[in-house]
Amino acid sequence: MSEQFIPEKYKVSISEGSVCWQAPSNIALIKYWGKKEIQIPRNPSLSFTLSACATRTSVHFSERKDRSSGYSIDFYFEGAKKEEFLPKIHTFFDRAEPYLPFLKSYHFEIRSENTFPHSSGIASSASSMAAMAICFVDIERQLLELPDEALDLKKASFIARLGSGSACRSLDGKIVEWGRHEDTPGSSDLYGISWELNAHEIFTSYHDTILLIDKGEKQVSSTVGHGLMEDHAYAEKRFNQAHDHLSQLQQAMSTGDLDQFVTLVELEALTLHAMMLTSKPSFILMKPNTLEVIRKLQSFRESSGLHPCFTLDAGANVHILYPENEREQVYQFIKNELVDYCENGGYICDMVGDGAKKISAVASKTLVK
Ligand code: PMV
Repeated sequence: MSEQFIPEKYKVSISEGSVCWQAPSNIALIKYWGKKEIQIPRNPSLSFTLSACATRTSVHFSERKDRSSGYSIDFYFEGAKKEEFLPKIHTFFDRAEPYLPFLKSYHFEIRSENTFPHSSGIASSASSMAAMAICFVDIERQLLELPDEALDLKKASFIARLGSGSACRSLDGKIVEWGRHEDTPGSSDLYGISWELNAHEIFTSYHDTILLIDKGEKQVSSTVGHGLMEDHAYAEKRFNQAHDHLSQLQQAMSTGDLDQFVTLVELEALTLHAMMLTSKPSFILMKPNTLEVIRKLQSFRESSGLHPCFTLDAGANVHILYPENEREQVYQFIKNELVDYCENGGYICDMVGDGAKKISAVASKTLVK
């Protein structure tokens, strides 16, 4: 089925040009943890697309005279040349090249920067792979002589997935589902699909305040993390549970049932950590302050009757999710009661966003028919 992403013969040859895109991070509500082959998920997942936490990437491409040897890439991160990122980019190019056959024809200068602080403990692989993938799909659009509107977002998601699984949920739409799921027509293991139109409107303007509990602490790398599910005692049960949770969450999100949303989102976060706590070797990624924040949040929810809930990534930071109509009270509570548990009082105010945005395209230099 991946064959659908092999392009037809390119229509024009372009000697030089550049593109620039920004792609956001995303936060999973139903977690992807465990994979096979190249980022084929063992269970479906669903995420909120974020807006403030994003990566901006520009790609300048110029035709190569000698195409005989591998790829030709210079990579800069926040203005500095970074040779150490090249092996990862080469692996990504190897996986993407069958679907983007122009990758050996050009020299690429790739410049990338994040909108969130470097040492925040926030993983940037989703936003950075999504931004890079859409740049290359945009270059291909030009080689196919297609208008801007014809940019293939599904292919951008497919290519992003080859770099980092969850990156495929960072391209298009406020709520994105990835992974084949019996209750979702059109769902696929190969790319994310926007699920926004099925959701109650309360979920299209949700807030996510990210509490930076432990900035320096290394998260479990996703390669290690997904690997832990290989012979995990509870793996099969967990994969089946994710399918059921997704069906239940979709029901709650289409009707606007906030109580059920809170229950499922928190259960998914704790299940992700339960998988790490019970793997061989096992990982304890929550810190004492992670638990303090969770405890305080849950008692605030009970006493206030409001609906903030938490979710976690593979690390100690806590994402507090809440609807726009509860923003004032919940944000006050976060500032007064939770920020003290953050390292140096650090937190990031984010909210649901739309996906990747084109920043600019410099006209390509020569078009030869
Ligand atoms: O996309 P990866 O391989 O970095 O894995 C992401 C895993 C989690 O962030 C823990 C869960 C998810 O679905 O995003």
